[in-house]
Formats: sequence, structure tokens, C-alpha cells
Amino acid sequence: MKIFIANWKMQVPFAEAEILAKSFARAFKEYKGKAVICPDFLALPLVGKTLIPSALKLGVQDLAPYSRGAYTGEVSPVDMAVLGAEFALIGHSERRSIFHEDDKLIAEKIRSAVEQGMTPVLCVGENAAERKLGRAASVVRNQLKGAFKGMKAKELKSLVIAYEPVWAIGTGSVCDPATAFRMKATISDFCLRSGLKKTPVLYGGSVKPDNAASFLAKGGFDGLLVGGASLEVESFLKICKQ
Ligand code: PGA
Repeated sequence: MKIFIANWKMQVPFAEAEILAKSFARAFKEYKGKAVICPDFLALPLVGKTLIPSALKLGVQDLAPYSRGAYTGEVSPVDMAVLGAEFALIGHSERRSIFHEDDKLIAEKIRSAVEQGMTPVLCVGENAAERKLGRAASVVRNQLKGAFKGMKAKELKSLVIAYEPVWAIGTGSVCDPATAFRMKATISDFCLRSGLKKTPVLYGGSVKPDNAASFLAKGGFDGLLVGGASLEVESFLKICKQ
């Protein structure tokens, strides 16, 4: 079954989150697929309460590598799980580039998600300069290598990977599907060599209702990670119905 993940980022004002979640829950009432909404932490309890009885699942955009303790400013993954979060985005390019998250931290966050019984959604992808230099595949392989370090294949059996070329995120310049499919093959090959046979690989980066199908064609991706187009219920529903 394809997986569709909405990454609301820090785009939804708190005062509007519940109303938006209600409209998603209504629109997805008859939905039979797997769709996940990732609100910000502040809205998590509110959005979770609205979504959990519906066909939609709850996710988080990031999570602390530790379960509890003296970690000023962090939110406990234990509480996220209690609130119903089943998926956790990890290593999103905005976390890597703006908040300087490195492979070691990302690996610890994957472990943290696994410990809480959440599905870690590891985001990987090259930036424009790396692609121009022909380094896209090696950058992605290195990100995977860093994230898998110290993890056993059996610990990673719930892992989902999202290939998100950084230059395609929020820019409207979508990656052409043939190029993206080649990267999917690189990722699947790396997973196979690491003992992971069935890791789903999603595509993300300027996904819209009119280009979503091209990434899901036969031999293509196992789902989509959607930012901008997930803020509007109709466009996310159209994407999820591809
Ligand atoms: P976008 O964001 O769909 O707005 O490009 C995707 C993401 O950041 O996950």
C-alpha cells in the first residue's frame, strides 16, 4: 500500500490547526489508503485527537534522540507516542541544513523512533551543487550509511526512506521522474546490501496533484512526502487518491 505523508512544517497557526485537522478528517472519511499528517509539536495533541478516530494517521516532523531527562527545549518521544504519533520524519533537509543535524544525531533519532515503536521516515537527498557535480548518488549513499551506523537490520525493519532532492523542496522545480527512479534504485540497492529487503522509498519535493501520479507509476516510488500541497485538504486528497 502506498504511503502519503503531509508535512505541515511550521506553516499552520495554532488557532487554525484544529479546524484544518477537522476538515482533513471529514474529507478522508472514506479513505482506505495510508495517509499521515505531521503537524508541529504544539498542535500534536489537538490534531491527534481529531485525526485518530479517522482514517488518517499521526506523525511528527522530528524527535529527540532521548526519551526523557535534562534536555532543555526538547519534547519527549515517549509523549509523542502516547499522543498517538506513529510516524516520525527524521533528517529532513531543513533539519540538516538550518539546524545542522549530522549523521550521528540522525542515527540516534532513528533509534529513538524505533524504541518508541514509531516508524522512522529517514529523509535523504542531494543539494543543487552536489547534483551539478555528479555527486548525487554518493551523497545519498553516504547519508544512508551514516544513518544506518550501529543499527542492526532487524532494528530497521519498520524504516521508510524519503528521497527528497533539496533543490526540489518548496521550489516548484520538480525532479524529473526518470532521474528520481534512478535514485530510488540506488537507495533500494543500498538497503538490500544492508539486509533490508522491503524498505519503502517515497519521493518528496514539489509534489502537486498534477505531478503525483508520475512518481507512482510502475517501478516507481512507494508513496509521497508532501509539504506545500498538503496544507490544502483538496490537493492532498487528490494526491492520496493517485
Ligand atoms: P514541498 O516540501 O512539497 O513543499 O516541496 C516537501 C518536504 O519538505 O517534505
